[in-house]
Amino acid sequence: MKIKESLKTHGQWVGKWTFILAATGSAVGLGNIWGFPYKAGTNGGGAFVLIYLACILIVGLPIMMSEIFLGRRSGTSPVNALRIAAHDTNSSQSWRFVGWSGLAAGIFILSFYSVIAGICINYIFIAAQSSEIVNSAEKFNEVTSSPYNLLFWHSLFIFLTAFIVSLGIKSGIERMVKILMPMLGFLLIFMVISSAINGDFNKAIEFLFAPDFDQVNSQTFLSAMGQAFFSLSLGMGSIMAYGAYMPKDENIVSTSFSVGSLDTLVAILAGLAIFPIIFAFNMEPNSGPGLVFISILTAFNQMEFGNFLGPIFFILLTIAALSSSISLLEPSVAYFAEKQILSRKSSAIAISLFAWTLGIGSALSFNLLSDFYIYDRNFLDFMDFIANQILLPLGGMLIAIFVGWFIPDNLIKEETGDFALFKLWKFFIKFVAPTAVFIIFVSQFI
Ligand code: PHE
Repeated sequence: MKIKESLKTHGQWVGKWTFILAATGSAVGLGNIWGFPYKAGTNGGGAFVLIYLACILIVGLPIMMSEIFLGRRSGTSPVNALRIAAHDTNSSQSWRFVGWSGLAAGIFILSFYSVIAGICINYIFIAAQSSEIVNSAEKFNEVTSSPYNLLFWHSLFIFLTAFIVSLGIKSGIERMVKILMPMLGFLLIFMVISSAINGDFNKAIEFLFAPDFDQVNSQTFLSAMGQAFFSLSLGMGSIMAYGAYMPKDENIVSTSFSVGSLDTLVAILAGLAIFPIIFAFNMEPNSGPGLVFISILTAFNQMEFGNFLGPIFFILLTIAALSSSISLLEPSVAYFAEKQILSRKSSAIAISLFAWTLGIGSALSFNLLSDFYIYDRNFLDFMDFIANQILLPLGGMLIAIFVGWFIPDNLIKEETGDFALFKLWKFFIKFVAPTAVFIIFVSQFI
């Protein structure tokens, strides 16, 4: 497919900020607001934050630039972006399987992401009555023990995702991120201010920014690197697909820096919104994945205006999840639409129906299937493992190798221009990023 035809199929972002908003929308999600604080919490705070920042700089940003480069160069979905780049450089056509594995990872992630995001929607209403809730842990049990309840919210969330994607680039994704992202920024700042007033802000600052290197071990590096990867939406083609709709006159290098900085800023602000409350109410910062649902509800229910601030927090989480989930669905919808196998609308419906069905397993892993294990993991954890710990790192590493070793400099510069740090970027993408990801990938099996 030629670039012109594909742009007719998908359209292009309008305006300078749209790509940045859309890519930031993809990057900022449950990973930042729920994952980052709890991982920082279980990995010693400041030291984790510092290593995380280093990972964003030396692995995340170089791979992000490569993904945008591949996407914009072809103007197509990831599978075709890799196919076209392989063709133009006389490389093996097998490279397009990296695109395929990305589509699969996107659908896997969407299936369970939607179940968790569904719980967030449910919590908007639960938090509104938080003052009547005596025991937050029991409440969480009650919410997750009903298959019907989880399936209802899961269905609603995936329906919203499919609906936005089916509308297309301009009237769907672009319009949504233009409303959602500023709202998210506003709500987050509001949450930080209210946490500063109601919580123990100094202790939170100390926890997040005073590194205690005694607590650092190899696990900290692994965890920080994995988090950087997932948080920037790298390794599966989301950013590549969005890059395809980026106008040619926009600068790939500065845009990548903007998206990376905004994603990091949101993660840190999320920490500043959550930890002051956690410390003020004497809860443990390292309580793990339950941090948001159980601890935060406990905190809100003891707080003045908790019935009002609680729902705002969960609206925030839902918005962040929604602007990420649309980017999980977009690569495969774009591919189907491009191939003219199905229209954009029908592909959005068909693929989300598939993800919805897979998601049933994850929803039931909280209740009916809680005793069902695949290799020591329940269904949701297993899907999470396949996607985040196998497909994403592998995808990211292969993208780095492909761009670093198989694409000549002049082809890259046609898209990126000749920028000051080109040589440094090339060094990172050729050697540093693949090696670092390889070490992480292998060490999880040791
Ligand atoms: N980056 C998103 C988050 O932080 C998740 C995501 C991963 C989205 C991969 C798209 C692709 O929640």
